[in-house]
Amino acid sequence: MHHAPEPGPDRVPVPADLRERLDAVLGALVPWPEDGSRPDGPVAVDATDRLLLDEAAPLLATAGPGDVVVLGDRFGALTLGVLALGAPDVRTHTDAVTAEAAIEHQLADADRLDLARGDREQLGITMRDDVDEHLLAGARVVLLQLPPSLAELTEIAEAVARYAADDVTVLAGGRVKHMTRTMNEVLAASFADVRATLARQKSRVLVASGVRPEARDAAPSFPARAVLRDAELLAAATPRDGTAPDGLTVVAHGGTFAGPALDLGTRFLLTTADRWPAADRVREALDLGSGTGLLATTLALRYPDARVTGVDRSASAVASTRATAEANGAGERVVVLRDDAGEDLPPASVDLILLNPPFHDRAAVRTDAARRMFAAAGRALRQGGELWCVFNTALHYREALTRAVGPTVHIAQSPKFTVTRSRRR
Ligand SMILES: C[S@@+](CC[C@H](N)C(=O)[O-])C[C@H]1O[C@@H](n2cnc3c(N)ncnc32)[C@H](O)[C@@H]1O
Repeated sequence: MHHAPEPGPDRVPVPADLRERLDAVLGALVPWPEDGSRPDGPVAVDATDRLLLDEAAPLLATAGPGDVVVLGDRFGALTLGVLALGAPDVRTHTDAVTAEAAIEHQLADADRLDLARGDREQLGITMRDDVDEHLLAGARVVLLQLPPSLAELTEIAEAVARYAADDVTVLAGGRVKHMTRTMNEVLAASFADVRATLARQKSRVLVASGVRPEARDAAPSFPARAVLRDAELLAAATPRDGTAPDGLTVVAHGGTFAGPALDLGTRFLLTTADRWPAADRVREALDLGSGTGLLATTLALRYPDARVTGVDRSASAVASTRATAEANGAGERVVVLRDDAGEDLPPASVDLILLNPPFHDRAAVRTDAARRMFAAAGRALRQGGELWCVFNTALHYREALTRAVGPTVHIAQSPKFTVTRSRRR
């Protein structure tokens, strides 16, 4: 059911033909398999998408080529919605490769969408991997699903202020329960005017405009860098008979797990490094769900003759993993792939996998991504290859690991974390 907003005092009503086209496009979107990004399950369009599109409609009606950018779209509603409302084209960025796949999936059957102009290029959709000048140069209307982390919002707001047109308007929407005053403050650091719309169906939009002149040239806060000297990290990154590095540099884009620091679970996994396979048994090593890439870089330094791959579904994580490897002189030896759960990895090709699987999505504990990663690890390992996994002890993953990979033993346990080793049958 569609809920039309009451036109407010400063609201330009959406012309009836565009409203009809929008309703037709949104109504034709198909739910995409659950990717963990929605607490309420797979729905193709949510109240925040609808509110964002309604708020943006007057700006979209007069938008020219190159004016419109969408960030954080999850199922295609924003990207296709802005086209329905008259934007001639749209540049779109989603952090998760799963969201990008969802948009592609909607387009695969574009006739249903009543935009009937064929494929992605013909529709005027450009998908960009990074939040950079290519995505944002000259943009005048930016629609954004508010990201879960303030660091990610900061990186986006700063990039918009740096690259977009002077008269850009940013419309940032979210669920009221996920929104904080600090989000307004983050936007206010880059934009002179920030206001909030009335809430509708538990969603709200922050509207930011007036790029602050000082924000144009400010040094970006992200990617953040830090030198880590944690003893467990340095020991794990030392090759047999080699000398330990003085420190490891971590590079973290705003949306990347743990930021420029060592996660506690990752640290616990690193304490088991002296029991990982010897160098002569490791030709191919993998950091599954690589985040900032500290584990991928550790593998590259510990096993100087191995080829290392980092995999993450997040564009921010992929860029961070690459940058962390480069910052430690391992850029040439670490290949980074953006892939959902590692499903595209070649079968029976890897000797050693390190995995600190995701278990949180906002407040909800979710284990489906972890289980899909176990399955992908089972496929990717060679016979006799090993998966070393750290997880919250309460999660009892041992049985699932045994089923997906092979015989699994507890290697280390603290009240909080467990490390297991699974050997491929
Ligand atoms: C707990 S973090 C670990 C990050 C890093 N390995 C570390 O130890 O700091 C889990 C990582 O898995 C990634 N991830 C979550 N779901 C994924 C999926 N379906 N496919 C691939 N990566 C995923 C997240 O983006 C995140 O970077």
